[in-house]
Amino acid sequence: MKLQDFLHMNEGDGEFSYSQNSCIQKGASLMSQPMVERAIEGVLSDIGMAKKDFRVADLGCGVGPVPLGLLTMVIQYVERKCKEFDDDIVPDILVYFNDLPSNDFNFLLRNLFNLEVLKRKDGKALCFLMATPGSYYARLFPANSLHFVHANYSLHWLSQTPEGLYSAEGVTLNKGNIYISETSPENVAKAYFSQFQQDFTKFLNNRSKEVLSNGRMLLTFRGRDSLSNVTKWQPWELKILTQSITTLISQGLLKEEKLDAFNFPYYGPCEEEIQYIVKADGSFEIENINTVTQQVHGEIKNDLERAKAISKFVRSFSESLILSHFGEDVLDLIYHNFTKLTNEHLANGELLEHSTIIVLLKKV
Ligand SMILES: C[S@@+](CC[C@H](N)C(=O)[O-])C[C@H]1O[C@@H](n2cnc3c(N)ncnc32)[C@H](O)[C@@H]1O
Repeated sequence: MKLQDFLHMNEGDGEFSYSQNSCIQKGASLMSQPMVERAIEGVLSDIGMAKKDFRVADLGCGVGPVPLGLLTMVIQYVERKCKEFDDDIVPDILVYFNDLPSNDFNFLLRNLFNLEVLKRKDGKALCFLMATPGSYYARLFPANSLHFVHANYSLHWLSQTPEGLYSAEGVTLNKGNIYISETSPENVAKAYFSQFQQDFTKFLNNRSKEVLSNGRMLLTFRGRDSLSNVTKWQPWELKILTQSITTLISQGLLKEEKLDAFNFPYYGPCEEEIQYIVKADGSFEIENINTVTQQVHGEIKNDLERAKAISKFVRSFSESLILSHFGEDVLDLIYHNFTKLTNEHLANGELLEHSTIIVLLKKV
């Protein structure tokens, strides 16, 4: 089965749902808020309203606070900027919500379609919502149709696990790991970067056909804070997830081969790698790029409570992958171990930080 047939964030609004546990992604989106304003201002002054509507796509939208926040922000900024540009006519705003077909679009749209902000002062429609299921590594929209593209915390998901992680005999090169770690051979890091490079290049190439000239794209990635920081390549949550699985192997509850056959379909890039790929593609130029590093759930002072919140956050985005590979019998055990181990890491004084890379691109 292909990754895109089963990868999804946890549905609904229950205890382990993505919508209730995506405050890290929401934090990233709030940090990029000034860039949303700058992007909309840039589009309105460079393209104007010749098309009489303003088309926005939120790619890898998921569900929960981020698509809601984006929608509200875009509407408010477009209204405000039109007024600043002395243009009383606020255009119709079209917002396309894209994700893989397995995303919980019903939950998303049920929570958005009745919002007051979608209407003009006279009660007529201002903003129209659309769902666009499909992979953003392929074409999603007609040519020259988008003014602004937003993708928050989604492009670090690869289209597939990288090729080249096994020898010709089918033996894993990355024994005991689910991602690049300090003990991985160099070829493993190369294979992951190569997959990211192919995927991100496809993404840029497809969007270059869809985004209007002078249109903008705001992309945030979970990534690394430096090119050379190899020891930080493995995000702490993947390291702890590996330890959680290894614990079950040592207890005889899982076979080692199961771990050897699992590779997390993620790549955390750094600024230099993003700049390199954007430049090589040539269809967009970088207007702004920066990296922000923060602690995860640093606002929770009690270690165990913080570990529980972190565990729910990790479960909300990784459960569909863990379930499909390791099965239901060990699912709760893996996340139970995850909470316990996270608590131990916190007690050892580890910071559990994550870096967010925010990039604003302009279509050449
Ligand atoms: C961590 S969530 C971020 C969701 C939302 N943007 C937010 O900030 O809360 C990543 C999202 O990207 C989606 N995604 C992953 N690969 C995708 C692809 N190839 N095409 C479209 N969406 C994808 C996932 O299904 C998921 O909803």
